[in-house]
Amino acid sequence: MLSYKHAFHAGNHADVIKHMCWLGVINYLKKKEKPFTLFDTHSGAGCYPLNSEQTQKNREYESGIDPLANVQPNAELLKMYLDAMDFYWQQQQYPGSPLIATRALRPQDSAHYMELHPNEADILTDVIRGVGMGNAHVHHRDGLEGLIAMTPPNPNRGAVLIDPPYERFDEYREVKEAVTKLFRRWQNAQLVLWYPLLSARADKKSGVSEVMIEALAGMSKTAFSAELHIDKKENDTGMYGSGVLVMNPPWQLDVQLDAALKEVCGHLGPNAISKIRWLKQESDQ
Ligand SMILES: C[S@@+](CC[C@H](N)C(=O)[O-])C[C@H]1O[C@@H](n2cnc3c(N)ncnc32)[C@H](O)[C@@H]1O
Repeated sequence: MLSYKHAFHAGNHADVIKHMCWLGVINYLKKKEKPFTLFDTHSGAGCYPLNSEQTQKNREYESGIDPLANVQPNAELLKMYLDAMDFYWQQQQYPGSPLIATRALRPQDSAHYMELHPNEADILTDVIRGVGMGNAHVHHRDGLEGLIAMTPPNPNRGAVLIDPPYERFDEYREVKEAVTKLFRRWQNAQLVLWYPLLSARADKKSGVSEVMIEALAGMSKTAFSAELHIDKKENDTGMYGSGVLVMNPPWQLDVQLDAALKEVCGHLGPNAISKIRWLKQESDQ
């Protein structure tokens, strides 16, 4: 089943926290001249015109990037995110994770983008070609299987974004297994795993992200979670927020995200809150 299309959700609050975090990780890797490799397991189509029928259906960007677009940001990470968005936003587009990453790569870095939906993979190839593929590679294949097959990279410095649609209940288990395998193969990978926060309306999926995150926190890796809630769970609006689990996080990313998310919340309505929680610190190991 591949019915999920990211165009319906482009630029929503989940994209804001995920893309801000991913940029924070990439930016930290760029502090050293040494090359790095990025892996994006569920890449999507790469760029989303805001005026498309799909994006216009629920106009989810109105509870995400839209209220932020004209903000003069104070937080460094929010500024970096809005700067990366600006070129596309001016053209009524929202860039997806592979496009954001490709624009940040240096000649010595490389990236692997996996996407299973054939049409999305074709569009992504065109989008990435449009900015000059360089060392960016699009793979039409299963993302978790591809990740394990292609890691560790050489040299083994880099980061992974796992951003599944979670359409199937089994995806939560598959992600947990893939992360376990990933760290067996590539100990120092930096990982950003996005997860939805779902109210009771989501029935048996409600609370499953939280269980997955706690299980992954049991691994011997430093980890924190950052969450952006735009509604109260008890209001039962379905996806009331989302989070990122960051394993082997770069130094100070928690502090940067905290400042950026607090500022974001000020623009996303009265129920918006953010939370940063360390699940395992160096001293716990
Ligand atoms: C949430 S979207 C990705 C959005 C993208 N990461 C971004 O931030 O711009 C999830 C994508 O995963 C793709 N997908 C679903 N199952 C997959 C699988 N097993 N392997 C790779 N891609 C998959 C879907 O077609 C969809 O495009």
